Amino acid sequence: MRVGVPTEVKSDEYRVALTPAGVRELVDAGHEVFVQSGAGLGSAIPDDAYATQGATITPDAAELFGAAELIVKVKEPQPAEVARLEPRHVLFTYLHLAADATLTRGLMASGATCIAYETVEDGRGRLPLLAPMSEVAGKIATQAGAFMLEKPLGGRGILLGGVPGVAAAKVMIIGGGVVGMNAAFIALGMEATVYVFDRNIDRLRELDIAFGGRADTCFASTLSVEERLSDADLVIGAVLVHGARAPHMVTREQLGLMKPHAVLVDVSIDQGGCFETSRPTTHSDPTYEVEGITHYCVTNMPGAVPITSTYALTNATMPYVVHLASAGLARALAESPGLRLGVNVAAGQVTYAPVAEAVGVPAVPVSDALAGVAASAG
Ligand SMILES: NC(=O)c1ccc[n+]([C@@H]2O[C@H](COP(=O)([O-])OP(=O)(O)OC[C@H]3O[C@@H](n4cnc5c(N)ncnc54)[C@H](O)[C@@H]3O)[C@@H](O)[C@H]2O)c1
Repeated sequence: MRVGVPTEVKSDEYRVALTPAGVRELVDAGHEVFVQSGAGLGSAIPDDAYATQGATITPDAAELFGAAELIVKVKEPQPAEVARLEPRHVLFTYLHLAADATLTRGLMASGATCIAYETVEDGRGRLPLLAPMSEVAGKIATQAGAFMLEKPLGGRGILLGGVPGVAAAKVMIIGGGVVGMNAAFIALGMEATVYVFDRNIDRLRELDIAFGGRADTCFASTLSVEERLSDADLVIGAVLVHGARAPHMVTREQLGLMKPHAVLVDVSIDQGGCFETSRPTTHSDPTYEVEGITHYCVTNMPGAVPITSTYALTNATMPYVVHLASAGLARALAESPGLRLGVNVAAGQVTYAPVAEAVGVPAVPVSDALAGVAASAG
């Protein structure tokens, strides 16, 4: 198969979807790999490193999309990229479609088969291609929150860990999954007082063991969240309902309960945001204020640390890319039910139910959508 790796074009995105190690695996398996010139530079990977492993370096996106059948990316396609997609393409990348009806409709119109990293599942119902970036984003969430609490940046002016004789800041984390647990460990490392909220009691049990009594675990009822808001300095939003738009855990009205210049970090912003007042921001302009509360809502947080993130992401995605290239789309989906759950859009139809519900179109089973393609090809 011909596999293409374009340069990411989203604002402040420095990751790349394949490393030279991935090129080597694909070329050894008999595939052709096309890498857009400069695609790896943000992650300190020069074109030569790809070429040495057998990749063909293409000068621009037009040639790359023209040459490739399987397109492997990091972030959701931007409008210029959507315009390049055709029914013959398989797109494998983060999509987060439940929060973006315009992109969903663009992908439907392209006719391409679009597989979302964030809805691929492993045999235990976990999200293996979201997890590495959630680990990174969770750690950044606390770092960014600590920084935004500094007075010159508009924060309350409190040090996360306190000092002897002066109390530490209170960090409230809503959603105790991969992001939440990583955010909590960094906050504990910085010696803050930490509370982690979740609605899954088994998950709270696991966290309780992992924290060894150093952080409080709390059932996330509306009342318990509301009660803790009034003394939190930093609130990190990290809830996820697989593939769906994030539920609102803090309303605009509840901001009035918070201390002036407290900080909200909404990691769930890529799924629409879990605070009512959240809207997407970028690394270049990461925060804004509502009712005196700083909001940090960067949609591609791991993009800021590409040397860590590119390798963490590609370690997880590479086996799926090799499988897709070697088995072809139909057989790879038949052999891997978890990969099949990643198909969000195929042949003009939405094939992932939570996305269909969020954007208001019918959900069509993957097999039905792809059968249409096979029939028209035949
Ligand atoms: N902004 C970014 O750059 C970035 C990067 C990585 C991940 N993310 C996003 O972070 C979010 C969390 O990802 P994750 O990997 O930690 O997911 P996860 O599935 O590991 O964890 C989500 C947790 O939320 C809990 N939850 C669901 N509904 C809840 C509710 N109503 N109240 C309390 N808890 C609830 C679940 O029980 C689960 O423990 C996702 O939206 C993901 O896309 C964003």
